[in-house]
Amino acid sequence: MIVCLCHRVSDRDIKAAVGQGTCCFEVLQDDLRVASSCGCCHDCAREVFDQACSARGQAVAPQPALATTA
Ligand code: FES
Repeated sequence: MIVCLCHRVSDRDIKAAVGQGTCCFEVLQDDLRVASSCGCCHDCAREVFDQACSARGQAVAPQPALATTA
């Protein structure tokens, strides 16, 4: 399943990255560029990432709070 249309990143790509030791979503974004353009895929990518980490028994780093504009 393609998760990120902007950068053609699939759920397999995300799972493979986790399998290779990526345990921080921001690192995943740097490596695969997932959720780094339009951002539409962020929630789905994060969900796939969290599930892959859980499946590997890795602790999932908490998502940083989003900045808000006033
Ligand atoms: S769909 Fe992933 S950044 Fe646009």
